Amino acid sequence: MSERVVTQNFGNEKAKEIATYESLGGYQALRKAVKMSPDEIIAEVKKANLCGRGGAGFPAGVKWSFIPKDAQTVYMVINADEGEPGTFKDRWLMHWDPHRLIEGACIAAYAIRSHKIYIYIRGELIEGARLLDKAVAEAYDKGYLGASMAGSGWAMDFVVHRGAGAYICGEETALLNSLEGRRGWPRLKPPYPAIKGLFGQPTVVNNVETLMNVPSIIERGGQWFADLGVDGDGGTRCAAVSGHVKSPGVYEVPVGTNLRTILDQYAGGMRDTPVKGVIPGGSSFPVLTNEEIDVPWANSMMRNDKIRSVEVRPGQPFLWGGGKELKSGPGSGAIIVMDQSTDMVRACARIVKFYAHESCGQCTPCREGGHWVATIVQRIADGNGKPSDLEMISSAAGGIGGTTICALGDAVSWSVLGFLTKFRDEFIAKVSG
Ligand SMILES: Cc1cc2nc3c(=O)[nH]c(=O)nc-3n(C[C@H](O)[C@H](O)[C@H](O)COP(=O)(O)O)c2cc1C
Ligand code: SF4
Repeated sequence: MSERVVTQNFGNEKAKEIATYESLGGYQALRKAVKMSPDEIIAEVKKANLCGRGGAGFPAGVKWSFIPKDAQTVYMVINADEGEPGTFKDRWLMHWDPHRLIEGACIAAYAIRSHKIYIYIRGELIEGARLLDKAVAEAYDKGYLGASMAGSGWAMDFVVHRGAGAYICGEETALLNSLEGRRGWPRLKPPYPAIKGLFGQPTVVNNVETLMNVPSIIERGGQWFADLGVDGDGGTRCAAVSGHVKSPGVYEVPVGTNLRTILDQYAGGMRDTPVKGVIPGGSSFPVLTNEEIDVPWANSMMRNDKIRSVEVRPGQPFLWGGGKELKSGPGSGAIIVMDQSTDMVRACARIVKFYAHESCGQCTPCREGGHWVATIVQRIADGNGKPSDLEMISSAAGGIGGTTICALGDAVSWSVLGFLTKFRDEFIAKVSG
């Protein structure tokens, strides 16, 4: 069994209580961190190659260093909205180890010279919010939060804010609008939150799992963490495995573990029939075929030559971010496994229906295109499609990615074009009657 960084207290009911958490070494990293300078902490996290676990995989230390050093008011925001279909690791992490999250967020907030942490927790996670409220109250009682964090003289406040169940509010700028009491609409970037975020002030938004790695990085050093993973992508990651495996669940694996190994050795192997397709990073990431899953589960999947590029039309790769060909990635950590019994057109229809429904409606390509694509894919899935529909969905889905305010539009393109590229035969069979 590999090193467990963020799941080490899974299964220990008592670790949710501050006394047990402390007895297991909890809050020692915070005590150590407040004796370091903010810049030393950022340097350690940069050395760790800790990449964001919320979806985009941006290096956390680099993000923290964007906060202007002379800013008067800075906010730290924890993204606990966890709405991406297939993703359920943040819920488990908060349920089993709420104090590790508070400790990690306190260290991160101190590193960016912030006195206030907000956690935006998905509305449906009622138990998570209750556990956090309790843990936050305990941390105030023990002096880890409040006027002098861990006796450092640095004030730190922590606010638990419950969302209302909108997927789009997981997008960091929509989340900030929602926290401010506005409609949860994504903002145009730039300005990025590090310059103009919550209430117009410099802000860092990080995912739950990202922050829960921070105490161990401070305790054991950035190099130790970097060495657990692969080049430029350190540590371990939580894989939330669902679908046709024998043991679905959350498994912490070293970054770069072979994707098939995660299915076979951690999730118990396939339940009935062999793999047909695997979505490796939450439903917005392109699906992989059985032939493509012998690859390291890491952000480098985006460039892995064993993975076929997603195409708008056969032979015409979909280009994203700076003209690169889109492959796939570990995204938000959700691995959705589909066996031979899966109707891939129907799976595609279900996913795109979700995105079309969750569009906030600001951008025409996402608002109109999403519904168009969802309607056509559903028509094909129901056996009412025609051959020209394939060209229509290629053109409509291909035209959304890269043209919208936020990445929800990309999710429509990436997921639909992924299915159409990898399982084109099934689409053709449906439209051919
Ligand atoms: C439509 C949409 C939904 C998102 N939902 C979440 C979410 O539920 N949780 C999350 O951590 N990040 C989510 N993200 C990514 C965030 O915008 C942001 O990149 C992330 O919180 C940054 O944290 P990280 O750098 O630690 O990964 C979402 C992005 C998009 C475009
Ligand atoms: S891409 Fe879609 S969800 Fe994102 S801002 Fe535009 S309309 Fe809203």
